[in-house]
Amino acid sequence: MDMNQFIQNIPKAELHLHIEGTLEPETLFRLAKRNGIRIKFNSVEELRQAYQFNNLQSFLDIYYEGAGVLQNESDFYELTWEYLLKAKEQNVRHVEIFFDPQTHTARGIAFETVIDGIYSALADGSRDLNISFCLIMCFLRHLPESEAMKTLVQALDFKEKIMGVGLDSSETGHPPSKFMGVFEKAREEGFRIVAHAGEEGPPEYIWEALQGLKAQRIDHGVRALEDTALINELKRRQIPLTVCPLSNIKLCVFKNMRDHSFKTLFDQGLCVTVNSDDPAYFGGYVVENYLALQDAFQLTRNDIAQLAINSFNAAFISQDKKEKFIDQIKKFMAE
Ligand code: HPA
Ligand code: ZN
Repeated sequence: MDMNQFIQNIPKAELHLHIEGTLEPETLFRLAKRNGIRIKFNSVEELRQAYQFNNLQSFLDIYYEGAGVLQNESDFYELTWEYLLKAKEQNVRHVEIFFDPQTHTARGIAFETVIDGIYSALADGSRDLNISFCLIMCFLRHLPESEAMKTLVQALDFKEKIMGVGLDSSETGHPPSKFMGVFEKAREEGFRIVAHAGEEGPPEYIWEALQGLKAQRIDHGVRALEDTALINELKRRQIPLTVCPLSNIKLCVFKNMRDHSFKTLFDQGLCVTVNSDDPAYFGGYVVENYLALQDAFQLTRNDIAQLAINSFNAAFISQDKKEKFIDQIKKFMAE
């Protein structure tokens, strides 16, 4: 089995995936046409051409515009189902999916439309594709905390469908400390806590996510390397980092994959995981992200297996379930 197949076939979890970021240009055009929505691109090729970003914000502007084609429950269902088919192809056994309700409620789409569409696809995927799942609701950090609080209150009616809450969108100028109140309420309600931090923002934002929000996982966290005390803390507590290599290159967090902090973080014994973030926009799903790292850093099969093991250890699933998945990796390695 060549390395390509090995990465493809090894059982893995994906923990950092924005469902709105799986909207492929073809799907975007199909839904725009079906829903009678005008878009400022004339073709799939022209749209793909526009996927050249120089920072997080330049991506978010296009990403939010693209999400505008999602109108009905069936649109959210199809979006999610298409992602699950891709995940199945790549032997992803467990997914933890982010969704951004505010991106849709701000356009007059009901919270219920969004969650029902996504959740029913995930439930069908669990039954028909054998992919287990959790849903994580993200708050948009460029909006005020009061808006996040309204979203949390809306979500309480769907509490049994939502495992955790997170924080995404424009990082610079919007530190985690802005959201202390809403995350405190989310913890009281029993939600798991994650937050994007240290993607473009400084290591202080990672400290704030850990100490202020009590995040159990850090999304990205790649700038942690700038702070030795922080590295020690992340290592000691084995706080998982959900790293998204192709995203970081596309958004110019690092110039080349060889400059990425991944390898140093991994070699220092942090719980690093590999994920795709917004695969339709960044040029690859989870397998392509593993391959990009393997290529840049000459990862061994044991390295890849360790990353896959980390992905299950970092997941919001029972210890029993983790052990079952990790046993599958061990069996796969012994084949
Ligand atoms: N960072 C912040 N917000 C996002 C991202 C990201 O990588 N993807 C989608 N929303
Ligand atoms: Zn992200």
